[in-house]
Amino acid sequence: MAIISSFNMQFSIFALLSVLRLSAQSSATSSTTNCFIQCLNHRSDPSFPITGEVYTSVNSSFPSVLQTYIRNLRFNETTTPKPILIITALHASHIQVAVVCAKKHRLLMRTRSGGHDYEGLSYVSNSNQPFFVVDMFNLRSINVSIQQETAWVQVGATLGEVYYRIAEKSNTHGFPAGVCPTLGVGGHFSGGGYGNLMRKYGLSVDNIVDAQLIDVNGRLLNRKSMGEDLFWAITGGGGVSFGVVLAYKIKLVRVPAIVTVFMIERTYEQNLTTIAHRWLQVADKFDNDLFLRMTFSVINNTNGEKTICAIFPTLYLGNSTTLVTLLNKDFPELGLQKSDCIEMSWIESVLFYTGFPIGTPTNALLSRIPQRLNPFKIKSDYVQNPISKQGFEFIFEKMKQLENQMLAFNPYGGRMSEISEFAKPFPHRSGNIAKIQYEVNWEELGVEAANRYLNFTRMMYDYMTPFVSKNPREAFLNYRDLDIGVNSHGKNAYAEGMVYGHKYFKETNYKRLTMVKSRVDPDNFFRNEQSIPTLSS
Ligand SMILES: Cc1cc2nc3c(=O)[nH]c(=O)nc-3n(C[C@H](O)[C@H](O)[C@H](O)COP(=O)(O)OP(=O)(O)OC[C@H]3O[C@@H](n4cnc5c(N)ncnc54)[C@H](O)[C@@H]3O)c2cc1C
Ligand SMILES: *[C@@H]1O[C@H](CO)[C@@H](O)[C@H](O)[C@H]1NC(C)=O
Ligand SMILES: *[C@@H]1O[C@H](CO)[C@@H](O)[C@H](O)[C@H]1NC(C)=O
Ligand SMILES: *[C@@H]1O[C@H](CO)[C@@H](O)[C@H](O)[C@H]1NC(C)=O
Ligand SMILES: *[C@@H]1O[C@H](CO)[C@@H](O)[C@H](O)[C@H]1NC(C)=O
Ligand SMILES: *[C@@H]1O[C@H](CO)[C@@H](O)[C@H](O)[C@H]1NC(C)=O
Ligand SMILES: *[C@@H]1O[C@H](CO)[C@@H](O)[C@H](O)[C@H]1NC(C)=O
Ligand SMILES: *[C@@H]1O[C@H](CO)[C@@H](O)[C@H](O)[C@H]1NC(C)=O
Repeated sequence: MAIISSFNMQFSIFALLSVLRLSAQSSATSSTTNCFIQCLNHRSDPSFPITGEVYTSVNSSFPSVLQTYIRNLRFNETTTPKPILIITALHASHIQVAVVCAKKHRLLMRTRSGGHDYEGLSYVSNSNQPFFVVDMFNLRSINVSIQQETAWVQVGATLGEVYYRIAEKSNTHGFPAGVCPTLGVGGHFSGGGYGNLMRKYGLSVDNIVDAQLIDVNGRLLNRKSMGEDLFWAITGGGGVSFGVVLAYKIKLVRVPAIVTVFMIERTYEQNLTTIAHRWLQVADKFDNDLFLRMTFSVINNTNGEKTICAIFPTLYLGNSTTLVTLLNKDFPELGLQKSDCIEMSWIESVLFYTGFPIGTPTNALLSRIPQRLNPFKIKSDYVQNPISKQGFEFIFEKMKQLENQMLAFNPYGGRMSEISEFAKPFPHRSGNIAKIQYEVNWEELGVEAANRYLNFTRMMYDYMTPFVSKNPREAFLNYRDLDIGVNSHGKNAYAEGMVYGHKYFKETNYKRLTMVKSRVDPDNFFRNEQSIPTLSS
């Protein structure tokens, strides 16, 4: 009896202390929140009041505002850290006051454009500090000038909207960017941006000519007023370390009125090892007009045994006659037939590549509803040397041993090899045959399932070590991966940042990014788990 009550008493004192500690913490947070909101209201431009755009966590619309642009359900858990408020900016001045007031009240800021960050860093912070989100989805205007072959695009626009607005005015213009139409311009362009025009025209950032950026002092800058170093940094170094990008001016590229696509499948039983081996010898050397991707997944064969299925999604900037001739000469192992090929306009090829059925109206690109939503994990690697047939046999075996493995090989070469690795922060240029994207999707919710699948993809990544780049093992910034290093912003932030910094940017570009960072944001206001640290931190 005595033991029980003493235990109870200890327990309730402990509980009381925890409650007190928690409420002290949350009242500190709520007073910070209130001061922050007062600052926003006080400082916001009376012609553009911010009041109606601030959603605190107790607001009944808060969960839906937060969830609308969560694009990885791994970060839609009750255990996922939540912002204290969200500002749905309608006007540049809303972002300017958000920066100024957040700096004053030492609040951590997150900027979200399309919400596709693979680690959710546009709406999650793992730092234990209170944070808020500036959501850019309302800022989505797109002004296309075919005469000048340029467009001004706000960061809250989606790629589908950009493609649609270009195609609306011209069937011989396009833009090199990602294949998923719901991606946001803000994260995608600032982190590089690649798609099936990359062998012809390079990355999105290779075709950006101007930008509007709000800096740490709340100033609105353009390319001229920010200077070439900062412009360089926000075209491939990730905007997030340097400010809030409001808009980019892009240079449109020419595409033929008719392009050719195909999406053929080959299984392991159809000589896939030979085809894959040959792919790695030719895919980066083809004519720049050809982008021939190779993706592997595991399926069951007719006997119910696991086997590998490859899909070869392809875009060719020319007609099917020329394409068949070209492939039968350089890649006969694939066995392409004229009947596999479909000719269409470039904008139709965007829909095709995304997986929409042929004949889908092009305004499907304007939908902001993703085709699929589930928890997932992505990793990336660069292939710089051929992989032997035995190598592919090993890869296929390991894919079958683990669950839900998908590997996509994206061909480099062409224009990508002609651009200097220092031209933009993105350094993976000449010398790279292909980039591998590792993708694991699952349906079960919860942290336990997530950890199981995370383990599978990490094991696959370990098995791939002999086949990919080393010292550093390079990675693609837009495929954000917190496994490759986290910056705790402790004493050695610069050294911590070197781990992921050298993988994403290599040494020289990382150094230059930290120099720009030190100049434009010396107090490191704009930061996240993988942001660019200052030189002195
Ligand atoms: C389904 C899917 C398909 C993809 N396909 C491709 C592809 O084909 N090619 C490719 O290159 N990548 C692809 N990606 C990766 C994609 O490019 C990146 O996730 C990109 O960062 C997404 O941009 P966002 O605006 O949608 O993301 P967000 O999550 O909004 O932002 C991503 C990062 O950028 C920061 N950020 C966002 N907006 C701004 C801004 N205005 N100013 C400063 N910083 C900002 C965020 O804080 C965050 O750190 C794909 C991702 C997904 C989920
Ligand atoms: C939620 O926030 C919005 C935007 O500020 C505001 O218009 C709305 O009245 C708030 N709703 C509630 C229930 O407080
Ligand atoms: C995200 O989680 C919330 C709360 O559990 C749920 O209501 C919502 O449907 C989830 N979103 C998606 C797209 O599944
Ligand atoms: C596009 O033009 C409109 C009207 O002139 C303007 O309000 C808008 O800001 C422009 N958008 C961009 C991204 O420049
Ligand atoms: C596989 O390759 C062999 C030898 O090159 C060839 O004889 C055979 O027809 C091919 N099989 C298929 C299904 O293409
Ligand atoms: C393959 O078969 C296994 C066991 O029979 C089953 O659980 C799995 O769902 C199947 N996979 C696919 C992709 O059909
Ligand atoms: C296909 O393109 C080639 C090269 O541009 C051209 O010479 C040929 O006439 C075209 N063929 C058809 C059937 O349009
Ligand atoms: C995955 O899990 C296994 C079994 O628990 C463990 O031995 C292994 O180290 C893990 N691998 C990785 C890469 O996390």
